Amino acid sequence: MHVLAPPVIMASLEDLKEQAGIAACSFVSDGMAIGLGTGSTVRYSIIEIARMIREEGMNIVGVPTSEITRDLATKLEIPLIELDEANTLDLTIDGADEFDSRFDLIKGGGGALTREKIVALASRSMVVVADHTKQVETLGRFDLPVEVHAASLLGVKDAISSICPGEVLLRGGEIAPFITDNGGMILDCSFGPIIANPGHLEQEIREISGVVEVGLFVGICDAVVVASEVGVNTLIKPDGRLNSSGGVKD
Ligand code: A5P
Repeated sequence: MHVLAPPVIMASLEDLKEQAGIAACSFVSDGMAIGLGTGSTVRYSIIEIARMIREEGMNIVGVPTSEITRDLATKLEIPLIELDEANTLDLTIDGADEFDSRFDLIKGGGGALTREKIVALASRSMVVVADHTKQVETLGRFDLPVEVHAASLLGVKDAISSICPGEVLLRGGEIAPFITDNGGMILDCSFGPIIANPGHLEQEIREISGVVEVGLFVGICDAVVVASEVGVNTLIKPDGRLNSSGGVKD
């Protein structure tokens, strides 16, 4: 007689994104002003925050990092404010294209890196949500997004190409380039396979006239909630701004 083994149900990548997105909301508490990131993983955090407001009566306001997130949050009836009205945010939750062992990030795969960085820097803490495919030892596998003023595109492309070992490509191509919420364009720059000194590279690119923002987030992220087949793990940066129970250090 054959005994059939029970089927092994593998979580899809979408399931993992949902698990990470929801788990990160353990950092959310009543009365917070929260930076709402952009992307397919943090989307689940935003849906969960809306549920917490609706079902648990939490008093939360959000600052969106993109027009896509503004539309989603508005649809979900999350009260929104402008960053200027908030001054300081308690927390930003956002996705990442890569995170490394030092909690440094590459972001901008969705093209919202400039507002994402402004909002994260205005926050007392930043929590990243990701599936395990985003975890790397050293940043660089993912092409680095750089937002550029449209009028400076060719000059910036030449300047970055002179320091970039790989290709520097205009996102969307020349006929139909991707346009950011700020009216800028994105250059995807192949600095990999490893970026040995992300902080130095960030500064070097920012010094190029016409660069709006670089998708390297160095020293900004305090925790990563990462989902894999074996479960959800919350990694807290040892010298970050969050203590081991998830509260902001004094
Ligand atoms: C948006 O500009 C990006 O920084 C996203 O946060 C990043 O690309 C992660 O998005 P996903 O969660 O969709 O992979």
